Amino acid sequence: MASSLLRNPNLLSTTPSLPTFSSKPTTPFSFRVQPSRHCSISLRSQTLRLSCSISDPSPLPPHIPLRRRPEYIPNRISDPNYVRVFDTTLRDGEQSPGATLTSKEKLDIARQLAKLGVDIIEAGFPAASKDDFEAVKTIAETIGNTVDENGYVPVICGLSRCNKKDIERAWDAVKYAKRPRIHTFIATSDIHLEHKLKKTKAEVIEIARNMVRFARSLGCEDVEFSPEDAGRSEREYLYEILGEVIKAGATTLNIPDTVGITLPIEFGQLIADIKANTPGIENVIISTHCQNDLGLSTANTLSGAHAGARQVEVTINGIGERAGNASLEEVVMAIKCRGDHVLGGLYTGLDTRHIVMTSKMVEEYTGMQTQPHKAIVGANAFAHESGIHQDGMLKHKGTYEIICPEEIGLERSNDAGIVLGKLSGRHALKDRLTELGYDLDDEQLSTIFWRFKTVAEQKKRVTDADIIALVSDEVFQPEAVWKLLDIQITCGTLGLSTATVKLADADGKEHVACSMGTGPVDSAYKAVDLIVKEPATLLEYSMNAVTEGIDAIATTRVLIRGSNKYSSTNAITGEEVLRTFSGTGSEIDIVVSSVKAYVGALNKMMDFKENSSPTKIPSQKNRVPA
Ligand code: KIV
Repeated sequence: MASSLLRNPNLLSTTPSLPTFSSKPTTPFSFRVQPSRHCSISLRSQTLRLSCSISDPSPLPPHIPLRRRPEYIPNRISDPNYVRVFDTTLRDGEQSPGATLTSKEKLDIARQLAKLGVDIIEAGFPAASKDDFEAVKTIAETIGNTVDENGYVPVICGLSRCNKKDIERAWDAVKYAKRPRIHTFIATSDIHLEHKLKKTKAEVIEIARNMVRFARSLGCEDVEFSPEDAGRSEREYLYEILGEVIKAGATTLNIPDTVGITLPIEFGQLIADIKANTPGIENVIISTHCQNDLGLSTANTLSGAHAGARQVEVTINGIGERAGNASLEEVVMAIKCRGDHVLGGLYTGLDTRHIVMTSKMVEEYTGMQTQPHKAIVGANAFAHESGIHQDGMLKHKGTYEIICPEEIGLERSNDAGIVLGKLSGRHALKDRLTELGYDLDDEQLSTIFWRFKTVAEQKKRVTDADIIALVSDEVFQPEAVWKLLDIQITCGTLGLSTATVKLADADGKEHVACSMGTGPVDSAYKAVDLIVKEPATLLEYSMNAVTEGIDAIATTRVLIRGSNKYSSTNAITGEEVLRTFSGTGSEIDIVVSSVKAYVGALNKMMDFKENSSPTKIPSQKNRVPA
């Protein structure tokens, strides 16, 4: 809120009910004001990039909201304007094709989500597979027990269908957290009742009521219930089933627009109607869960919050089933920028400066690339191309920019162009990484620095894009089972390509294989297959040169599918799905880059296998409520 006001001073003078701003914290409504800033502009390829640097020698970090997060009580929020952020990147997001995450990656993301300050982490669907179960349990045991100095610890939530086995599994995974939550769901729309569940409305109410009661009986005091496909469910029926689950002990009622069909005005009305007509609704929290099939998930979520929802279910970068979910960064920044003026004072407890790092981590780990024009976190979100915009920016930043880049964790104190070369030291690299939004520990920095030096020996100028590629190649990699040591290729027009590949296994033992193929990549992949001996189908392969010039770093992305032992249960359809695994590699040599990506994807797949043996549970439609 403070930031957008600072960007637009007029808003300060025209809004009567604003809290005062002070450089000293005065709880509960105070903000630190930024020290004075100056702005420098660099023109590169006709793109103006804003460079902010802080002129105060000991600046305060920008815009730290000191608004206190209300104490966590499952079914009540003491401040009516506080909106809980429920992140489902690790559950709904991970359901996106190709987005499979390893347990370690899930743990890293959960840790980052806690830094960001989300209220609830939906860590997975524990009944999906042993791998999913273990990941949720580990997150509950670690992140779910790390309490910060303000008493904040995220709620750790596990999804379950409305059956005893799923619910027990979810509870067994989340119960180690300080604040465990079970989220159970069953469909309520006519089309789902008739064709998917083959049950009557009364039967579904009975299941929902019994299963919420069952979840509570296990000792779980925080139970969320979702009437799946609420967006297409009959209103009176919704009021009835929701009223019944409240009586059975539900503490949050989540309203999913499962197929993303509603328009903002409709979704807002749905929330308002539920609020007005559901018996006992004043004793629970209403939540939104908006899919993005019509590109309206953010708008619908905000409309829901405006109508009274006080929990929003979102994912980083908006990833999720089909067209994805409402994106955390869009919803949170919209509330931050406009919550006071347009949404009656709504706010969240997030430290938005961790948005960029979280977004990059999710992008790299899932292999789901964010489009350049993605709001808030896209590469172009703070770039200004046109002459008119550049002129405006030079005169006043607020003319074309509604958010300071620093607020989401981007700092621009150097030109966005070439900044580093082979004489640049560790410190310069660390500074540039921070400016780009990466918050790396010392060990990660050392690894990157070593790679950076190697690249800088080969390239005169190391650009931001090069650095980002190196971070992706070194930091955001799955645990290595196999590691590429050496590769030798013969290819050309005279015959078949041949490749000799040397890999090291987890114990460091070296393995060498040779193979022929239709080209250098094909022959190299076949040689890798001879060593790894895990059949995999290459589904997608793409390569990008991250910068211009013959010495550019090439980033390869691949997507593979293994045999049917790499499967899990889809929460929504109940089907067994073959998992797909992504991998990336970045190198100046394109074949090395390609092989690294392939080995990375195989490592990810094998990590899944090590933990996994799918939990078979009859799908909802065949189960009789216990
Ligand atoms: O889209 C949906 O309906 C869901 C529910 C499980 C909340 O993901």
